[in-house]
Amino acid sequence: MNDYEKFSADSFRLDGKVAVITGANQGLGLAYAVAFAKMGADLFIPHFTDDVAEITALIGKEGRKLHLYQGDLSDKAYLDSIVPRCMEVYGRLDILVNNAGMNHFAPFEQFPDERFQQIIQLNMNACYYLGRQAGLCMKEHGGGKIINVGSALSFTADDNCPPYVVAKHGVTGITRCFANELGKYNVQCNAICPGFIATDMNAGQRVNAGFTDKITARTPAGRWGDSSDLMGTVVFLASPASDYINGWMISVDGGFTCTL
Ligand SMILES: NC(=O)c1ccc[n+]([C@@H]2O[C@H](COP(=O)([O-])OP(=O)(O)OC[C@H]3O[C@@H](n4cnc5c(N)ncnc54)[C@H](O)[C@@H]3O)[C@@H](O)[C@H]2O)c1
Repeated sequence: MNDYEKFSADSFRLDGKVAVITGANQGLGLAYAVAFAKMGADLFIPHFTDDVAEITALIGKEGRKLHLYQGDLSDKAYLDSIVPRCMEVYGRLDILVNNAGMNHFAPFEQFPDERFQQIIQLNMNACYYLGRQAGLCMKEHGGGKIINVGSALSFTADDNCPPYVVAKHGVTGITRCFANELGKYNVQCNAICPGFIATDMNAGQRVNAGFTDKITARTPAGRWGDSSDLMGTVVFLASPASDYINGWMISVDGGFTCTL
């Protein structure tokens, strides 16, 4: 087979793979789960909230397997149990998406310490610890893909959410560190960095028309994103088509981060 024949539409397929996506029972994580299922992967979903009816219906419709595992990612014992549990259930782990995240909005001067710690813990520390466990498991089994979730705030700062900015910048460091540590074992670690997509996370901000319009005006695409805008990129980063990409952040933001 010559180099050109190595590539086909199948390079984007995920048949036979098992993906762990944290917090995928809603929002952007649910879009990643449906995208993976459409491309042939089975799913292991660590979720925090009780609402699993929608993911159960959507993954069932694609004819893929779904295993739900409820807990709080800031509880280290639960976090440490995810990879072993996935191995018990499926006997493999090919893809991890560190998607779960939270935000809280308050002025810099008064930002509550407890909230600061919570956001760093979930958005950055859990990403590191779960990624390390998954990466070491992938190393033992010949390779895999880790996809971290950054943000436009992995590259820029905004008012009223200091720990979110700090944590999402930290995600870029984790991504490069893991690419460096695990690349030689055929594990690729990259990050997807969404721009502004309407989900529960920003529902409180979207009631402010001034904020919504400011984002729309700064986005060259002229609109906020929707979940479907992220599905192609996450599949690409999870699939053999991206095997020679390691340690990079891909912005899916309608051009937001490249503008002033
Ligand atoms: N929506 C956007 O515009 C946007 C932009 C950039 C980055 N992101 C990132 O995308 C990811 C998903 O966000 P979303 O917009 O879908 O928001 P969302 O609020 O709908 O989803 C967040 C998920 O994280 C889970 N979660 C919260 N606390 C948890 C905990 N302690 N343990 C385990 N899970 C917990 C929630 O239950 C939920 O499933 C986050 O990392 C977020 O920072 C979102």
